Amino acid sequence: MKSKLKQYQKRVEEQISRHLSERTTDMPQRLQNALNYASLSPGKRLRPALIYAVTEGLALPLKKVDPAACAIELIHSYSLVHDDLPAMDDDDLRRGQPTCHKKFDEATAILTGDSQLTLAFEIMACTLEIAPEQRTQSIQILAKAAGAQGMIAGQMRDIQAENKTLTLEKLIQVHRLKTGALIEAALLLGAVPHPDYLHYQAWLSKLGHALGLAFQIQDDILDIEGNTATLGKTQGRDQALNKSTFPQLLGLEKAKVMRDQQIQLAHDCHQKLGFNSLFLKDLINFTAQREH
Ligand code: IPE
Ligand code: IPE
Ligand code: MG
Ligand code: MG
Ligand code: MG
Repeated sequence: MKSKLKQYQKRVEEQISRHLSERTTDMPQRLQNALNYASLSPGKRLRPALIYAVTEGLALPLKKVDPAACAIELIHSYSLVHDDLPAMDDDDLRRGQPTCHKKFDEATAILTGDSQLTLAFEIMACTLEIAPEQRTQSIQILAKAAGAQGMIAGQMRDIQAENKTLTLEKLIQVHRLKTGALIEAALLLGAVPHPDYLHYQAWLSKLGHALGLAFQIQDDILDIEGNTATLGKTQGRDQALNKSTFPQLLGLEKAKVMRDQQIQLAHDCHQKLGFNSLFLKDLINFTAQREH
């Protein structure tokens, strides 16, 4: 799985780099530098990998989802640039490097995130490898997942939940929105080019819910058990900000049980899909086992 993940990381990075270098006319040099810095810093590229895993599992050509893979990574990257801002989680370190606003300044970081978000949709709109109706459907999936009923809703609720104790149900909702929505969208986007998309949609959504929740629970666990050097981001920020997290609500052991239950649920959904992808199976396991 490591070599395949590397291969897909390289695939999406090369394309993001190409899209950025093709669009430099009229772009201020400072914005160009910040865009490259934030978009190509060493992330795991899990969301693009999930897209490719589904497309490959469905035996479709990967080039049909290349734009979606670039777009989802740009949106994820923008969400991190803004998440780290002083008005939000106020973090200095991301992917082992100074956060965008530390390396540049706050205004540049805000504008970098804005640029990444809009560029993502420009790239999606220019996808000529898929039929126009599939293009529109992909844009809708991504817009809904990234927007005020998806990731942004989760980010708002996450901020509102600081210094509070949420019910388990409410905390699940925050995690599903802020992290799960984009992970679910990745799985769906991988299947859009398939003629039987509707056949796969329900189980992919369920898989995305479970995997997204497990992913964020592990993120919360790593904030406690990880170390800054391995994480590439400052350990202990959740406690410092008095965030609502699974370990805070349930304790570490119960949080791990819940993470593992969601991983099992994700495997069960994969079984129901009707195609078997060893890479997808590996990515599901990686979500719980990862150390950063
Ligand atoms: C971090 O996401 C933010 C969350 C949604 C928890 P990742 O752990 O996928 O971050 P990178 O892209 O690998 O840096
Ligand atoms: C971030 O969650 C979710 C999004 C950026 C949408 P966190 O705030 O927990 O992510 P980290 O821990 O800073 O990576
Ligand atoms: Mg946050
Ligand atoms: Mg954060
Ligand atoms: Mg976190």
